[in-house]
Amino acid sequence: MALAGKSKLVSTLTGIVLAAVFGVVHGHGDVQPQAVDTEGLEALGEEYAEENPYRLAGGEQYDLAVKIGASGYNQNCARCHGLEAISGGIAPDLRMLEDGMFGDEWWLERVRKGYSQNGAYKMPPFETLLSQEAIWAIRSYVETRPK
Ligand code: HEC
Repeated sequence: MALAGKSKLVSTLTGIVLAAVFGVVHGHGDVQPQAVDTEGLEALGEEYAEENPYRLAGGEQYDLAVKIGASGYNQNCARCHGLEAISGGIAPDLRMLEDGMFGDEWWLERVRKGYSQNGAYKMPPFETLLSQEAIWAIRSYVETRPK
C-alpha cells in the first residue's frame, strides 16, 4: 500500500512538472505569427492594391479569400482583436471599420505598419510577416463578418 501510494505521488508530481514545462513552452504571450497559405488566390505582385482585389473580383475568388482569411485571422489577429472578429476590448473591433475603399486604405496602412506607442509595439507590423494576398484575404473575412 505504502509503495502504491508513493508511486501515485511520483506520477502526480511528474504530471505537474510536465504541465509546468509544457506551460512554459506553449503558454507564453508571444504567439508566433503564422504564415498564411494563400494557394488558389490570384497572385497580386509587389505593388499594393488600393482596394481589396478579391472583393472586386467577387465570386469564387472572394469566397476563397474569406475562407483563407478566417484562418489567417484566427492565427494572427484574434488574440488581440477577438475571436471571430468580435473584440473583447483589448484592441478595436475590426468589423467597425469603414466598408469599401476608405476602410481598405486604413486597413493596409495599419496592418503593414502596425502601431507603436512610446517605442513599444501595441500591434506588430505585418508587412514582413504576411503576403499581400494574406492581408487582403483577412480583410475579406473581417468585412464579411456580421456587424
Ligand atoms: C498584439 C496585439 C495585436 C495584434 C496581434 C493585432 N493587432 Fe491590430 N491593433 C492592435 C491595437 C492595440 C490597435 C489599436 C491601435 C490604435 O489605437 O490605433 C490595433 C489596430 C488595428 C487596426 C485599426 C483599427 C481601427 O479601428 O482604426 C487594424 C485595421 C488592425 N489592427 C488590424 C489587425 C490585423 C488584420 C491583425 C492580424 C493580421 C492585427 N491587427 C493584429 C493590436 C493588435
